[in-house]
Amino acid sequence: MSKEKLIQRYSAPERINHWIVAICFVLLAISGLAFFYPAFFWLTGVFGTPQLARIVHPFVGVVMFAGFVRQFFRYWHHNFITAQDVEWMKSVGTVLKGHEVGDTGKYNGGQKGMFWHMSLCMGLLMLTGIVIWREYFSIHFPIPVIRAALLVHSMSALALIAGIIVHVYAALWVKGTIRAMVEGVVTHAWAKKHHPRWYREVTQGRQQGH
Ligand code: HEM
Repeated sequence: MSKEKLIQRYSAPERINHWIVAICFVLLAISGLAFFYPAFFWLTGVFGTPQLARIVHPFVGVVMFAGFVRQFFRYWHHNFITAQDVEWMKSVGTVLKGHEVGDTGKYNGGQKGMFWHMSLCMGLLMLTGIVIWREYFSIHFPIPVIRAALLVHSMSALALIAGIIVHVYAALWVKGTIRAMVEGVVTHAWAKKHHPRWYREVTQGRQQGH
């Protein structure tokens, strides 16, 4: 059997960092939903006991945020939204039917929109998370500010959970994408089909574009 030629998309440190962020996200989403809604209280068991969940949740949040900051500085310059990306977003129905739209670079319009959605949610979660972290910081803020922060924290968490459902669904939907984040590589066919401009840039040895 001939050995298939592959293209590197993510290095090992990038992948390890991504999966640390993803695992933290799952733990935070489960424990956060448990605090948010009584019917989910039993989910506090994810950290052993409800008390432990309450103690550990914010620390895991800091780890997730730190991991995401690394992703942010690694990828932000690939995620500038261009007129072509807006066209992609407008034609998302066509994309979902399996036809690619435009000369897509490293990321398509949907991925770029998701990147900024994640960044906004992460920033809000961290900022408001500090305000509502009773153990260390809440004492420095008036009660109305803590209440507002709690509301924004919950809303950003729900928005991020909704976003990640779409992110994971898209990663599974487009065959060969998960491999990029698991093994770090994609096939030539995958790159040519979904990210033609990036494909040309990588295969012609030029600097990767947006
Ligand atoms: C929980 C399950 C998750 C799965 C299965 C997953 C899967 C993937 C895959 C396959 C890629 C590569 C896409 C490509 O190169 O075309 C990717 C990229 C990425 N993921 Fe995830 N992911 C998950 C969770 C998360 C979480 C929780 C975050 C952060 C909130 C995140 C942030 C990112 C970022 C920033 C990229 C780089 C792409 C970009 O800049 O748009 N992922 N993910």
